[in-house]
Amino acid sequence: MQKRIAVIYGDGIGREVITQALKILKVVAKKYGHTFVFEEVLAGGAAIDACGECLPAESLKICKESDSVLLGAVGGPKWDNEPSHNRPEKALLTLRKELGLFANIRPATLLPQLRKASPLKDEILNLGIDFIIVRELIGGVYFGEHKLEEINGEKVASDAMTYSASQIESIAKVAFNIARNRKKEIVCVDKANVLSSSRLWREVVDKVAQNYKDVNLSYMYVDNAAMQICRAPSQFDVILTENMFGDILSDEASIITGTIGVIPSASLSNGTLGMYEPIHGSAPDIAGQDKANPIGTILSAAMMLELSFGLTKESEAIQLAVQNALDKGYRTGDMMSAGIQLVGCEQMGDVILESVM
Ligand code: IPM
Ligand code: MG
Repeated sequence: MQKRIAVIYGDGIGREVITQALKILKVVAKKYGHTFVFEEVLAGGAAIDACGECLPAESLKICKESDSVLLGAVGGPKWDNEPSHNRPEKALLTLRKELGLFANIRPATLLPQLRKASPLKDEILNLGIDFIIVRELIGGVYFGEHKLEEINGEKVASDAMTYSASQIESIAKVAFNIARNRKKEIVCVDKANVLSSSRLWREVVDKVAQNYKDVNLSYMYVDNAAMQICRAPSQFDVILTENMFGDILSDEASIITGTIGVIPSASLSNGTLGMYEPIHGSAPDIAGQDKANPIGTILSAAMMLELSFGLTKESEAIQLAVQNALDKGYRTGDMMSAGIQLVGCEQMGDVILESVM
């Protein structure tokens, strides 16, 4: 199989973590007889530095023409004063929108090796954590009208949370299809006691559910969901939610499994094109120090192989190699606990690589 992969190193720890994932993808390609052609694409702060624009037209073009996109992270304090249309994060949002990546899949699974890194008590962890957040990614308040006006001599700002029925229907179908292959439980998280967009979500999701009678659907307000994720996370199988709620809850979901550093994500379109990225950010405080955890990116690459290319065996080999590295006791700083071997980003990549070979 031959695939063209656009690679966005991005900012902060982006380059370090992507380097480890590419190293592993190259070995997997060789071992299983595939050709992956990697094409570096500038986006985010790195692109602002190089050419003044957070997402040059050429970068977007290459991503559109590729079979998938692998991204490290964008953003950092250096670009905090850029105007909103040219912030590094804007590159990410434009990519999501332009590539039609409406479905963001973020798993939260407690690996037995990382139990000690979780802030939750044993009695909660004993029940297990294994759920998936299905986050709508190109609607809601991120893409509604943003306004800054002057009213009666005072500045007034607003960001509209806008959803159309068809947007909700598309993401709901993705969640129901995923739930069908799992425990068949969906919790749709919203704020229907306050927001009219949430009430439309309920109306549309109810309708979609008619075609998935085998899946059990319930609703939960987002404030309660935030509490339940740390109080009793074992109750969740698939969480379906809108863009901003998904952003917030997925950070919470990641930390209860030990560290945000190991959580991958897939952003999917209607076709096979997807963008894959760890959910941690650019972590400028540890950038360039070989301290970052490459596992989130490596597992994102594994998701890419499975979801965009249908290479299930290869994807499983990478996931197994990650487990092996953890079994052997290797940890980056973010998942340290007593009696365990501290390694840097590169060495963690090496240990995983050995297992894939
Ligand atoms: C994420 C990030 C992005 C988001 C930022 C960087 C714009 O937090 O992917 O979760 O809010 O979607
Ligand atoms: Mg986020």
